[in-house]
Amino acid sequence: MRNFRNLGILTVLSLSVSVAALHAYAAEPAVAPEPAPFPAEGKIKYVARDSILEFKALPEYHEPDWVTKKFVETGKLPPVKDRLPREPLVYKTGNMPDGAGVYGDTMRHVIGGRPEGWNYGAGQTQGWGGIDIGLSECLTRTGPLFQVEAKDTEPLPNLARSWEWSKDGHKLTMHLIEGAKWSDGAPFGADDLMFYWEDEVLDPNVSPLNGATPETFGAGTTLKKIDDYTVEWTFKEAFPKQYLYAMAYGTFCPGPSHILKPQHPKYSKNTYEQFKNAFPPEYMNIPVMGAWVPVEYRPDDIIVMRRNPYYWKVDEKGNQLPYLNELQYKLSTWADRDVQAVAGSGDFSNLEQPENFVASLRRAAEKTAPARLAFGPRLIGYNLRMNFSANGWGNPDERGQALRELNRNEDFRKAVTMAVDRKAIGDSLVKGPFTAIYPGGISSGTSFYDRKSTVYYPFDLKGAKAELAKAGLKDTDGDGFVNFPAGTAGGKNVEIVMLVNNDYTTDKSLAEGVVGQMEKLGLRVVLNGLNGNQRDAANYSGRFDWLLRRNDTELSSVVQNTEQLAPVGPRTSWNHRAPENGEVDMMPYEKELVDIINKFTATQDNDERVNLMKQFQKISTEHVYTVGLTEYPGALIINKRFSNIPEGTPIFMFNWAEDSVVRERLWVAADKQQKYELFPEQLPGKPGEKGPLN
Ligand code: GLA
Ligand code: CA
Repeated sequence: MRNFRNLGILTVLSLSVSVAALHAYAAEPAVAPEPAPFPAEGKIKYVARDSILEFKALPEYHEPDWVTKKFVETGKLPPVKDRLPREPLVYKTGNMPDGAGVYGDTMRHVIGGRPEGWNYGAGQTQGWGGIDIGLSECLTRTGPLFQVEAKDTEPLPNLARSWEWSKDGHKLTMHLIEGAKWSDGAPFGADDLMFYWEDEVLDPNVSPLNGATPETFGAGTTLKKIDDYTVEWTFKEAFPKQYLYAMAYGTFCPGPSHILKPQHPKYSKNTYEQFKNAFPPEYMNIPVMGAWVPVEYRPDDIIVMRRNPYYWKVDEKGNQLPYLNELQYKLSTWADRDVQAVAGSGDFSNLEQPENFVASLRRAAEKTAPARLAFGPRLIGYNLRMNFSANGWGNPDERGQALRELNRNEDFRKAVTMAVDRKAIGDSLVKGPFTAIYPGGISSGTSFYDRKSTVYYPFDLKGAKAELAKAGLKDTDGDGFVNFPAGTAGGKNVEIVMLVNNDYTTDKSLAEGVVGQMEKLGLRVVLNGLNGNQRDAANYSGRFDWLLRRNDTELSSVVQNTEQLAPVGPRTSWNHRAPENGEVDMMPYEKELVDIINKFTATQDNDERVNLMKQFQKISTEHVYTVGLTEYPGALIINKRFSNIPEGTPIFMFNWAEDSVVRERLWVAADKQQKYELFPEQLPGKPGEKGPLN
């Protein structure tokens, strides 16, 4: 068997192509097969970045009539012009697919997640499906960038309305929106950012929900308040523009410091656990900067959010956004979200579970279908990830430790990846042109993907078994499963516990597929299926041998959450983190990956970035950093009564579609409006008090 590992990247690729053409010997990599073309139905209309929004004062402002009558005229709220910032964010009409809209109606979401509470900055989920996206606002914004021409791609301004770099590129001064208010009327400003940064991101006892750590913004980075509306970043690198993506959802979306700070252990007698749980799901009207505020929660039933009377975005006519008065979140299952969206009892779904593709397509094709459905690029993917920490992350027992050592053995990883029959796995989810062979690494749907740099170990069970033997594993007791060598973990069968998210049919089907295929290899895999929140907790604390995980944005966009592509910090990788007070015990190829990511972050040269990502893809797939399982396109399902849905919106790229469609700009024409609002003509009440304000 030849060893290509020491040859240069190009030689490896050209050699492996010709070898694969003759015959694929065991463990001899090939180039990833060309995915069958999947024509995305929605054609994206590409636009210039500055054609989307601007910040300016308008001659007059408007709001729904009932807000003026019931709240302003009765003295419950100041006039709209006084609730808006000096220069609000203005969405340009030219970028709105159907133009400026009218007020009314609600968007009925259905989700499979459940809320832990409202303390996002301390790591609590609100149940996903776009709840947190609707109530958080972040320094910058990236979801809508899917429509921006690639050469122009830089995060959009948001809470940070503008920024400039110092001459040497080490300092970034950000100007915040001036005079904007939280949904309870309290002023928003630099203090909110500083609380998030100092007491949440930098405090090692607090882990914000989407995994922001100091390394997310570059090791050694500092943030300083200059005045109420100005902050200054200092970076070790010059011009690390990449971090502007980390300032978008979900890693720089500050919470209301006037509410959170008094509960933080540094300023109270609370423990960190008490701080985290100080805002349970029953706590209503948590102040937000987003367009809607949670006003009602019934366990396993519904969360209702009403319009934020202090929202700081408007259209060019001066209409305060959002147009939609309400968002509803029915607490059900993710599969039900598809069913209800096509049936018309829900309004929105990211069709992402292939098991539902055929039925959904059939219904959507009917003339009477209440919803439109459009597929986008192949950006949904799944990986099997191995826990690479051999120095204690997750406190493994003897068996667990032995397994970590195996995971770190390249022959073992090759055995596993070669035993995955990706064609069969894809077909088991859905027949047809949807799923593609996915060796792992960057999604084939991103602009950074390079097929020729994607090393693929074709399905070869015999070869896989040979690799397993090379890793020192034999079935010593003849029961069909390989054993640890005598002296390791009692020489027992190698038993691998794979962590799986039980909330999704697809995750469970894929997991069962992996169990069956590994059995043929002689590896016994048992599933640890948990609900999403428990799965995340087990993932973050390293309590798994293997992890089956739907891809996150670092693989669908590369520029969003880039630090998650490799262990660049102690807590940035999904499957290789440091134990408490420890270091990440990186393997040599992981160090190379980290170097590449650091260079990618530091450079401004686009060609160099493209090249670096080719190297990343080559090294990570060759050494099997992750075991790719399958990838496929998703479809956005939205009820036909909504206007302003940008054509071709992918369900997932820089962020989920709940961000990319810009919900605060969606509207329903007067003759199509439905009486779905559960709290008509009501606004959010006082923080912590029950129910909305009449
Ligand atoms: C879940 C869903 C996705 C999307 C996100 C938004 O993960 O599966 O389709 O709605 O929530 O956070
Ligand atoms: Ca055995």
